[in-house]
Amino acid sequence: MIIPPHLAHLPAPSPEAQALSDELSALIAREIDEAGGWISFAQYMELALYAPGLGYYSAGSRKLGEGGDFVTAPELSPLFARCIARQWAQLHGEGLCNVLEIGAGSGALAADLLLEMHALGCVPEAYFILELSADLRERQRKRLLQHAPEMIARVQWMDTLPAQLEGMVLANEVLDATPARMVTTRSGDTREFFVRHGAAANTFYRDEAGTSEEVRRAVESLHLSADDYQTEINLTARALVTSLSRLLTRGVLLFIDYGFPAREFYHPQRTRGTLMCHYRHHAHDDPFAFVGLQDITTHVDFSAVAAAALDGGATLAGYTSQANFLINCGITLLLAQTPASDVRAYAPLAAQAQKLLSPAEMGELFKVIAFGKHFDLPLVGFTRGDKSHTL
Ligand SMILES: C[S@@+](CC[C@H](N)C(=O)[O-])C[C@H]1O[C@@H](n2cnc3c(N)ncnc32)[C@H](O)[C@@H]1O
Repeated sequence: MIIPPHLAHLPAPSPEAQALSDELSALIAREIDEAGGWISFAQYMELALYAPGLGYYSAGSRKLGEGGDFVTAPELSPLFARCIARQWAQLHGEGLCNVLEIGAGSGALAADLLLEMHALGCVPEAYFILELSADLRERQRKRLLQHAPEMIARVQWMDTLPAQLEGMVLANEVLDATPARMVTTRSGDTREFFVRHGAAANTFYRDEAGTSEEVRRAVESLHLSADDYQTEINLTARALVTSLSRLLTRGVLLFIDYGFPAREFYHPQRTRGTLMCHYRHHAHDDPFAFVGLQDITTHVDFSAVAAAALDGGATLAGYTSQANFLINCGITLLLAQTPASDVRAYAPLAAQAQKLLSPAEMGELFKVIAFGKHFDLPLVGFTRGDKSHTL
């Protein structure tokens, strides 16, 4: 494994991790050779994150939480799941019975949600989890057995999307982890970044070529004004949202992630896109370093997500910041249940709430978007601060 000089200050991987990374690099290099010398950046990202047994999310390394590479909201605090449970309580009260969580990570959200649903008297008949990674699936099972053993009988894992579902579909930080295309526009021409490998099979670099009609049309629809502009188009996220929207017979889709509406995502000043890599709590922008040992993500274009859900027949039910959503669901009331005089219990909870809500942390960058299908009651999570008009 070759660590580029600009990242040499980051913690070195263990020999075992390096061996895994080399194996994955060799696999990607073979795929590149078999494809005639290059693959799309999205294909590279797919392999780096999800190649069975070797990709970042498929191999055995610890990804989420303090000992991993990044922390997600459910890892940070049970308050997050407890608020979502309050949104679910409304849907359950309207007769919805099932939950489908996409990409459940360590299982923290599922465990805390099910416990809170139990406490609120709105346990779903089935809690389905669709997870691509066999390793994460095993972790989810262990987490649930440890933290919510009385609920595990409700949980069913799925390999593929169900044909149909009535209920709530939930995905926290999943869309940002779907493979995106990288493009650049110059003098009105759209070029796409492709990935080649160097003479050493474990070095990769980018090359540019003309792109597909689908990507060109997607870029044209953005009416980008800046020249020499690099950005991402995430067709995988759009296809996933449309499929989820189509399969929902009645209910609500809820996506939580970091990102912006198209106008902000494709702002003329954002000339280098949003691609980011996370390795041991360090963020950088080199997707070819630490292959398989680091997360690769792009921000979410929520306008594209909305268009994709509408394509699948759902209607927009709300779009707001994570802070507004959690406040609407009662996070401050939950916090107030612990007396401030009980400093040991209150101080960590208050610190967690601050991270979830603060505009300088997750409160504003993270958004919540919801869609309804044959379900048009106003959702409690969007009572105040709805920003649908910005999409
Ligand atoms: C950044 S992690 C977030 C995990 C968890 N939701 C959380 O908030 O902690 C991304 C998760 O999405 C999963 N994932 C990505 N694309 C997926 C897809 N198309 N279907 C199911 N899971 C997917 C990954 O395997 C991983 O579990």
